[in-house]
Amino acid sequence: MPTALDRFDRYPLLLGPSPVHPLERLTEHLGGAQLWAKRDDVSSGLAYGGNKTRKLEYLLADALAKGCDTLVSIGGVQSNHTRQVAAVAARAGLECVLIQESWVDWPDAVYDRVGNILLSRILGADVRLVQAKFGIGFKESWEQALADVEAAGGKPYPIPAGASDHALGGLGYARWAQEVSEQEQELGVFFDTVIVCSVTGSTQAGMVAGFAAQERPRRVIGIDGSAKPAETKEQVTRIAQATAELIEVGRELTADELIRRDPARRAARGDDHRPGLRGEVARRDDRPRLSPGGFPGLDRALRAPGRPARAERVLGALPLGLRTSGYTRDEEVKRMATAKQVQAAKRNVKKAQAGAKRKRTIAHLPASTRRSLVQQAQKGRRRGGAPGHALEDRNREQLYELAKKKNIPGRSKMGKWDLIKALRKA
Ligand SMILES: Cc1ncc(COP(=O)(O)O)c(C=O)c1O
Repeated sequence: MPTALDRFDRYPLLLGPSPVHPLERLTEHLGGAQLWAKRDDVSSGLAYGGNKTRKLEYLLADALAKGCDTLVSIGGVQSNHTRQVAAVAARAGLECVLIQESWVDWPDAVYDRVGNILLSRILGADVRLVQAKFGIGFKESWEQALADVEAAGGKPYPIPAGASDHALGGLGYARWAQEVSEQEQELGVFFDTVIVCSVTGSTQAGMVAGFAAQERPRRVIGIDGSAKPAETKEQVTRIAQATAELIEVGRELTADELIRRDPARRAARGDDHRPGLRGEVARRDDRPRLSPGGFPGLDRALRAPGRPARAERVLGALPLGLRTSGYTRDEEVKRMATAKQVQAAKRNVKKAQAGAKRKRTIAHLPASTRRSLVQQAQKGRRRGGAPGHALEDRNREQLYELAKKKNIPGRSKMGKWDLIKALRKA
């Protein structure tokens, strides 16, 4: 049956519906609800894909309908989003300008030359590096880029960070919710809880709006992966409401439908509005704590009292662990920088130890030198340690006197071994 969502034009970029599959071992380990993953990484086949490709299907159709010729977007230096915008522009034959801000202070000399940013350049985007900190709002540099395209006679299409704070930003994941419902019918299952990473917000917001249009209620838990959870929460709420209006849900969304967790605030409880999800870890459970993909928040949500019953199913949208370790970006940078430093220090200690060991022996000298040193030592031993007549047995002073007798030119500047060479030649 056609829905309000079908009224919006969509430029197909995905390779069909993203597959869902069970995660048996994780389910067994956690011992609660049955866990499945929905693999948007598999279905978004442009330049290694990701969740933004699904959102961009609607934004690209809009850009083309408006006669725009340049996609302009913004993200961190290693943004997955900007890489996907570059790929989408290349796919549709449009120009692309990307503002890459220094959201993460990453101590790596090639951080702005490899990975995503390199791919964006290969895909033909005009990549502009800008010194600015993390933020999901609108930025001056981005507005400047839009003005530059216009000044050059082009028609820009603005795509905000994560393709989120945009009138059509939530549609991609509202359609995802429809896709889930169709897959449930085919599989004969129902996913009562969806867990997703949330940063710029429209992934979670689109899901919430999409599920609100369906009959059976379920929870969408957004795990915060941004450094600014309050801002993201506000953005998710706003985009979810706006998307719900666009797809004609016909009612206001409730606080119960907008669950967010901030794994960085481990001690903080009660960030959720649902009584069953207040995050107490079941105490009887003494298995080692596992944070699936590094999500302590997910671990807690799945083990909490009131967690989904065994017969119900939880769908982890997008591959878990691709995004965050449960620390804020700043903490993560600090942690990883420290881990890197520790590794580098360990390497240096090993190197220094090996160097010192080599210097204590003659093992590092060329084989011919080692042989001649051994021969001299043997000769010396045969003489009972007394100095011999071989040139090598004499010191520099003695050799110099000899060179003087033979009138060897340049002798005063020669060391022991040069003197021996010159004496042998003379
Ligand atoms: C794999 C993955 N999941 C989820 C998100 C969050 O999506 P959004 O920015 O729409 O909140 C991102 C991007 O930040 C991501 O890369």
